Amino acid sequence: MKNIRNFCIIAHIDHGKSTLADRLLEFTHTLDGKKLQNQLLDDMDLERERGITIKSHAIQMIYEYEGEKYTLNLIDTPGHVDFSYEVSRSIAACEGALLVVDAAQGIQAQTISNLYMAIEQDLEIIPVLNKVDLDSAMPDEVEDQIVDLLGIPRKDIIRASGKTGIGIPEILKAIVERVPAPGGDPDAPLQALIFDSVFNSFRGIIAYYKILNGSIAKGEQVKFVATEKEYEADEVGILRLDMIPKERVECGDVGYIISGIKTATEVKVGDTITHVKRPCDKAIDGFEEVKPMVFAGVYPIESEDFENLRSSLEKLQLNDASLTFQPESSVALGFGFRCGFLGLLHMEIVQERLEREFNMDVITTVPNVSYRVYDKKGSMKEVHNPAGLPDATLIERIEEPFIRASVITSTTYLGPIMTLCLGKRGVLVTQNYISGDRVEIIFDLPLGEIVIDFYDKLKSVSKGYASFDYHLHDFRPSKLVKLDILLNAEPVDALSTLTHFDNAQSFGRRMCEKLKELIPRQQFDIAIQAAIGAKIIARETIKAVRKDVTAKCYGGDISRKRKLLEKQKEGKKRMKQIGNVEIPQKAFLAVLKLD
Ligand code: GTP
Repeated sequence: MKNIRNFCIIAHIDHGKSTLADRLLEFTHTLDGKKLQNQLLDDMDLERERGITIKSHAIQMIYEYEGEKYTLNLIDTPGHVDFSYEVSRSIAACEGALLVVDAAQGIQAQTISNLYMAIEQDLEIIPVLNKVDLDSAMPDEVEDQIVDLLGIPRKDIIRASGKTGIGIPEILKAIVERVPAPGGDPDAPLQALIFDSVFNSFRGIIAYYKILNGSIAKGEQVKFVATEKEYEADEVGILRLDMIPKERVECGDVGYIISGIKTATEVKVGDTITHVKRPCDKAIDGFEEVKPMVFAGVYPIESEDFENLRSSLEKLQLNDASLTFQPESSVALGFGFRCGFLGLLHMEIVQERLEREFNMDVITTVPNVSYRVYDKKGSMKEVHNPAGLPDATLIERIEEPFIRASVITSTTYLGPIMTLCLGKRGVLVTQNYISGDRVEIIFDLPLGEIVIDFYDKLKSVSKGYASFDYHLHDFRPSKLVKLDILLNAEPVDALSTLTHFDNAQSFGRRMCEKLKELIPRQQFDIAIQAAIGAKIIARETIKAVRKDVTAKCYGGDISRKRKLLEKQKEGKKRMKQIGNVEIPQKAFLAVLKLD
């Protein structure tokens, strides 16, 4: 145990975490040169394309230092706020963290929020100033920021480059010298913290854990405390490049267990594994059920694909326990599912996987959050779909989730960012100067406003120079009303949204204008109306057009005609017939594109 070191890497997106991890693996000969695929830790295609570590993994390196062999377990953490609970459990499995900061970018919001988690868990922090090879690096300035933030001596910061390999030996040395060996009692009842799980189509669900007390051997009967399920440990082992089976995984080490578990929902990140015969007294602290925060309707374009969509979602859920779905029907869209996601990125990933891996053509409705609706008798119902809101006369109050958000930026953009947050019904909590002209502002904001278009707006008002991070804070009563959209006097339930009463008027007007842009002209006039209850608050009309798209070709050029027809066909694919009006997918997301 004294020669084990468990550590993770904390970094903002793109600050070079994966590249640095590769170098550590290379330097410790965990992989020889030819095996080194770029960025080994991100092994899903989608992940590589997005450059974001979606699912955490672990990898063991053996490092020889001053004549002794050390086992270094690197536990990878996902780099996005949607997955912050997983990050917190990965951090809880470690005794140390490399705090990687890009020498050209400086400290960003994600760095700080993950750092706070690591400090809370008493991790030894090793600051690494990365990408010092860049011409645009500002090592002294960024070191100032790190010194201010951590209150540590400047000499403790390691200057490194994942690209050129500068600083890699120093980092490994620091891990051995500064990170404490794991504690724990090898003879105590087993207590292992699950920090991740993966799905394998042959072996079922593989759970990754760190052993806090005791040890785990092949063939033993184990129990997962939160789910209260019991299994036989068919295989246990450690994680190098592949899984390496062992008879026993010892106290302090990181390993995996295969025990015939079929679905991801049985393995909960943060749960405790113990023995059936000699169980531990209590579960490891910090377990939480992750709950989806963002919901959207997912509907097949062709109604006969409903069952296909169900089986695709079921398959996705096998390896993604945080995805939830329930059948729902919409007058406009027919039968589909209301899906729950951890956040916007998670939603996009699921959408993309449905398309790529399952070949599903789907219409996704505007995302919304979970509302707590109290009726006049005082009972509460969670509503995940604006269309499912009870009649306004029965509602006593509606509460919506608020997040506490941190934005880090240069003072140049402070004004516009404040204006943006206040315009999104934000409440300023505090403002901290980090160093020089960098400032962190903390706002409480309704999550419902964030899921609409906050990221894009923040990016544009700050010209990309602001980083953003948040966590769920509380639920607060808000004056929310349901805004309906009518097309030729027919309400389209899939376009209903909940919006704040004070903004409803302008919101309704902008929705109508946007839909007018997005819905193609058809052979008859289309009236678009926005309504709150029976009251129409805005209206636009799309004028009729002749349908013959080739008319404007003056009869001449055949290939051009064909092209136009092809184009029209393409355009059709993503259309949904509602009453007699054809609506393109984009229109269902109109609310995301309001100016
Ligand atoms: P996420 O997985 O998205 O969190 O990103 P990451 O932090 O793992 O960053 P990644 O290692 O993917 O690197 C991001 C970009 O920076 C890539 O284009 C790398 O090639 C580049 N990069 C990483 N390390 C260095 C470095 O030391 N020097 C220079 N010049 N570029 C680097």
